[in-house]
Amino acid sequence: MPRDDSHLPQALRGLRIPLIASPLFIISVPALVIAQCKAGIIGSFPALNAREAEGEHPLLDTWLTQIKEELDRHNQANPDNPAAPYAVNQIVHRSNTRLDRDLEICVKHEVPVWITSLGARVEVNEAAHSCGGVVLHDVINNKFAKKAVEKGADGLVAVAAGAGGHAGQQSPFALVREIREWYDGPVALSGSIATGESLLGARAMGADFGYAGSPFIATDEANADQAYKDMIVDSSAEDIVYSSLFTGVWGNYLKGSVKNAGMDPDNLPTADASSMNFGSDREKPKAWKTIWGSGQGIGAIKAVGPAGAIVDRMADEYFAAGKKLAAEFN
Ligand SMILES: Cc1cc2nc3c(=O)[nH]c(=O)nc-3n(C[C@H](O)[C@H](O)[C@H](O)COP(=O)(O)O)c2cc1C
Repeated sequence: MPRDDSHLPQALRGLRIPLIASPLFIISVPALVIAQCKAGIIGSFPALNAREAEGEHPLLDTWLTQIKEELDRHNQANPDNPAAPYAVNQIVHRSNTRLDRDLEICVKHEVPVWITSLGARVEVNEAAHSCGGVVLHDVINNKFAKKAVEKGADGLVAVAAGAGGHAGQQSPFALVREIREWYDGPVALSGSIATGESLLGARAMGADFGYAGSPFIATDEANADQAYKDMIVDSSAEDIVYSSLFTGVWGNYLKGSVKNAGMDPDNLPTADASSMNFGSDREKPKAWKTIWGSGQGIGAIKAVGPAGAIVDRMADEYFAAGKKLAAEFN
């Protein structure tokens, strides 16, 4: 029986597997987004990844044109196997001075899925809705989830413990359960989902989608150093450290990159939230460029390869695991 996704907004229906590729700062570029969408899952990128030099035409506009044209071409050539929609991530933090301009560009392009993080704002939801977009807001606990829905988000990304980059601390079981007690809208679960079995687990818990980022770092299309990709392949859960030092927000990083930067990953001081900065001058060194973000699920990543191969593997695992489990209930 095909998956019944008729309760979801149109833009979130009909995916090959119920998976959203998360936006990755610096790493998610059009080549990766296009590969993810062509493979049948929602691909995404942070608007802030598109940075033009002063006085140049906004790169975000160019990227959106490129993504739409490429996906249109694919859909015309493959009417039976259309690409999934793409999503753009907006960092809704006061330090993001580009936000208004970026919202305008996204409205112009009628971006189908909007992922918002670090602050829910009514105006951002209104901008998305003005062009028919669906907003998924990123939260790490039930309180923020309620706030996001009150402010007009159409769905939630529940970021549990073990997620790459900025991550929560709650068990995915607890987080999804608490949200599902009052909310029946779209929920994607984030944190260490790197196999089809984990994706099935997310669905069994009550999430509509899994949300995965770190596996896509080790891909041909990712805009990341080869050494970063290799470290993802060579590392596993015990090689991840949870720290607030690098951006002011708690997140998960590769211990190897912390060591390479001359620090002891097992003895890091904490930072306070006033050091957060997501403006276009987000140069804070080490975070992201030399201190590499990653979730705990990377033990499943055995090689660098095309992004589509990750989706193929996860799809095979997802359907096989689902059939095996379903047999227990006959
Ligand atoms: C290197 C890296 C960069 C990230 N950058 C962003 C970002 O710019 N915006 C955002 O909303 N989430 C960002 N995330 C978090 C992801 O959205 C997502 O929660 C996470 O990748 C899911 O966990 P996983 O990596 O274990 O799959 C980032 C994660 C990583 C690993």
